[in-house]
Amino acid sequence: MSELKNITVIGGGTMGNGIAQIFALGGFDVNLTETKKELADRAIRTIDKNLSRMVSKEKIGEEEKNTALDRIQPHLDLTAAIENADLVIEAVPEQFELKKKIFEKVDQYAPAHTILASNTSSISITKLAAVTSHPEKFIGMHFFNPVPVMKLIEVINGLKTDKYTTETVISVSKKLDKMPVSVNDSPGFVSNRVLMPMINEAIFCVYEGVAEPGAVDEVMKLGMAHPMGPLRLADFIGLDVCLDILNVLFDGYKDPKYRPCPLLVKMVEAGKLGDKTGEGFFKY
Ligand code: 3HC
Repeated sequence: MSELKNITVIGGGTMGNGIAQIFALGGFDVNLTETKKELADRAIRTIDKNLSRMVSKEKIGEEEKNTALDRIQPHLDLTAAIENADLVIEAVPEQFELKKKIFEKVDQYAPAHTILASNTSSISITKLAAVTSHPEKFIGMHFFNPVPVMKLIEVINGLKTDKYTTETVISVSKKLDKMPVSVNDSPGFVSNRVLMPMINEAIFCVYEGVAEPGAVDEVMKLGMAHPMGPLRLADFIGLDVCLDILNVLFDGYKDPKYRPCPLLVKMVEAGKLGDKTGEGFFKY
């Protein structure tokens, strides 16, 4: 198995900047691409802030923080950012057409040995792999928010992903001090196939007047030892993202048990998306 050294992260949003941070702390050289200078600057500022928090908690020293920051090179030109990449991780919004466009370009300009990964939470890895000329080198690396805190990387094997690609990604995940779990491509993978029906059911409890949002969350926090209740978690993930994933499950399995609760649909239509808009099931 060859050593991965250069990592390119496409997209510097919540997930992308977290992914760049953990790779830089893990000693890798990171190219982080964004579409606008303001967005690239914001990603670097967020990483700086999160690393400073680690310094103040004495998890890392000031020097380690600065070394990690120096390892991250922001880019606005995707082609230049991938020319030496050993591993490319895409973390852009959940739109198939957008991801397709990016992977077609990456496929054209990345070196032949490069492993391509998507951090998608719901789009089929097999379908994304099919837009590239090397589907055997394509894989899902599903990180969890907040990326620097959550231990899991769900490693998703597409229909054509080869053993070398899976083993390389598992090995690099362990170097980041994460716990990779390998699963096969299927709508929602394992994580969201299990998580989203729970969140949806919690929303149905509110919709049907069984309990107020706060009460639903207290039940799950105090009774099931969840760090966040399902509705607080839904706000944290984004209600639009939850709805998109439920629609992928509903369309993928054609099973009514995945139907999104009408209250979730209505809240998304009203622009109440959770933390990012200041209001969801709770106010922020
Ligand atoms: N970056 C770095 N560190 C962070 C952080 C961030 N963005 N947010 C929190 N932390 C650290 C804190 O510094 C703290 O570290 P310490 O234990 O060393 O002091 C630790 O995390 C706990 O943070 P807080 O004390 O501030 O707050 P909480 O104890 O309430 O924990 C939480 C916050 C870690 C977010 C916790 O509530 C939690 O685990 N929630 C569940 C999160 C979850 O389920 N995520 C998965 C979402 S699903 C997903 O991402 C997949 C997608 O496909 C939908």
